Amino acid sequence: MDEPFELMADIEVLPAHFPILGMGFLPVNAFVLKAAEPVLVDTGMGIESDDFMRALKSVINPQDLRWVWITHDDADHTGSVQKVLEAAPKARLVAYSLAVLRMSTAWPVPMDRVYWLNPGDSISAGDRTLTAVRPPLFDNPTTIGIYDGKSGAFFSADCFGAIIPSPARNVKDLAEEDLVQGMTNWASGDNPWVYMFETAVFSRVLDRVRQISPNMILSAHLPPALGKTEQLLKTLAAVPASTPFVGPDQTALEQMLAEIRGGS
Ligand SMILES: [Fe+2]
Ligand SMILES: [Fe+2]
Repeated sequence: MDEPFELMADIEVLPAHFPILGMGFLPVNAFVLKAAEPVLVDTGMGIESDDFMRALKSVINPQDLRWVWITHDDADHTGSVQKVLEAAPKARLVAYSLAVLRMSTAWPVPMDRVYWLNPGDSISAGDRTLTAVRPPLFDNPTTIGIYDGKSGAFFSADCFGAIIPSPARNVKDLAEEDLVQGMTNWASGDNPWVYMFETAVFSRVLDRVRQISPNMILSAHLPPALGKTEQLLKTLAAVPASTPFVGPDQTALEQMLAEIRGGS
């Protein structure tokens, strides 16, 4: 985990980063939305669960949490969900139904604490409405991002992610070309189905985000991006015409292992 920080008065970032050998780092963010009914958005990676719980407790007393919103049930978003629910007895677990069913194959989800949302549904967090929005790119069918009508933030799950050269606290800290390349690599590798889209059709999908018009994009896999929505959408719009990402093969793995052995 990296050091948590306050993005604005009502939004705390719980940042982490995951090294991707030979490519850079994938940010892995969770967020605490200090609404009248406080919300935790995602629960980090299980491999650093103790650190995650420490980071969470440094920004809020978990007893005060009223909602734990799981954007989807991938392991980098559900790493501490059980521990969080134990530490936050007043919190409801918000997720798409299929995410809960899938998680139930791994651990006993307390169904009486669950709150199911479909894209387009909303909850009230006291001082604001939070609406479930399916982002234009997703690597898991259970994905629901969040549009916060008060702050104007779009918590976009994996969408708008980027593999970046070094961890950063703000997307403005990245060089322009690193941002474009890093987003394109991530979007291509994480969503290989994007190449099934005609560019014009995909642009219409992206227009749905323009209609919401969020003033900040808070992706699980990108440093916070304030006032950059149009630029990020333009970068995604070019992905269906980009060269598809090809994962490293066994030869590459053996080279990496040899380098690690050589360096130790
Ligand atoms: Fe994912
Ligand atoms: Fe993810």
